[in-house]
Amino acid sequence: MKILWNDKIVDESEVRIDTEDRGYQFGDGIYEVIRIYDGLLYMEEEHLERFWHCANKIRLSLPFTKEEFSQRLHKFAEEVGIKNGRLYFQVTHGTAKPRLHDFPDAKEVMPVLTADIQATSRPNEKLENGIHGGFVPDKRWLHCDIKSISLLGNILALNEAKEKGYDDAILIRDGIVTEASSSNLWMVKDGILYTHPDGELILPGITKIKVRQLAEKLGIQLIEEPFTKEQLIEADECFKTSSVAEVMPIISIDGKNVGNGNPGIITKQLQKAYIEAIEESVKKM
Ligand code: PDD
Repeated sequence: MKILWNDKIVDESEVRIDTEDRGYQFGDGIYEVIRIYDGLLYMEEEHLERFWHCANKIRLSLPFTKEEFSQRLHKFAEEVGIKNGRLYFQVTHGTAKPRLHDFPDAKEVMPVLTADIQATSRPNEKLENGIHGGFVPDKRWLHCDIKSISLLGNILALNEAKEKGYDDAILIRDGIVTEASSSNLWMVKDGILYTHPDGELILPGITKIKVRQLAEKLGIQLIEEPFTKEQLIEADECFKTSSVAEVMPIISIDGKNVGNGNPGIITKQLQKAYIEAIEESVKKM
């Protein structure tokens, strides 16, 4: 597999990451996942915008401009040649010796970038039939808006849900539904769409931006306000969104059907509109 390693494209066997890399030592880094459809890096600008925002939040000064980085990613995608896949990239704060918790002096330490592209296709069967969610307490930190490579909180939640036989965790903090383990969460009640507002308790999803636009276009009322676990149990529809999962119906939670136990009408409408929006962007490329 080819890896983008800083400014070089190399075989994975050539990548050398120092054991003192702050990403490896502390999880001191950020990442992004972009879906590639027919060679198009979908919503690239928004992903890069979030990446730069997160870099600022962790005081990481990126050694390239957005334009330079975009060119680097495009060159990499062209060389790898995977037309439908997912592009993963991460930057850590680099290697500082000796191991100290303090942020390293930006003049002395270079951030370390790695990226790869793996072939991915749309999870059609799940998109059609939906998945099963389970409630799990949201025990993550209070910087969930940072797309940090430290994902232990998310991983623990997902695995707790999986151990109980569910496909994903629906996270509950102080009785409020925040998001799923690696997606944003939405519900529909009486024709109105609800999702948690952006802020420090959730990741501001790029798919969420698109679904917001599509809801407006389709005339679906959207309320971005916190809602409770009890409200979700009484909802007519539920779905999650992410670059990889797209608009994914959740048809049961903790073994109880959401609505009639099938993907909901508004969910399907948004799912279809999301796919059409991708197709339009691909055509314009
Ligand atoms: N996950 N919330 C969390 C906690 C996430 O990890 C993600 C993305 C999202 C949705 O973000 P977006 O719409 O920008 O993909 C929400 C990615 C896909 C991942 O970690 O693989």
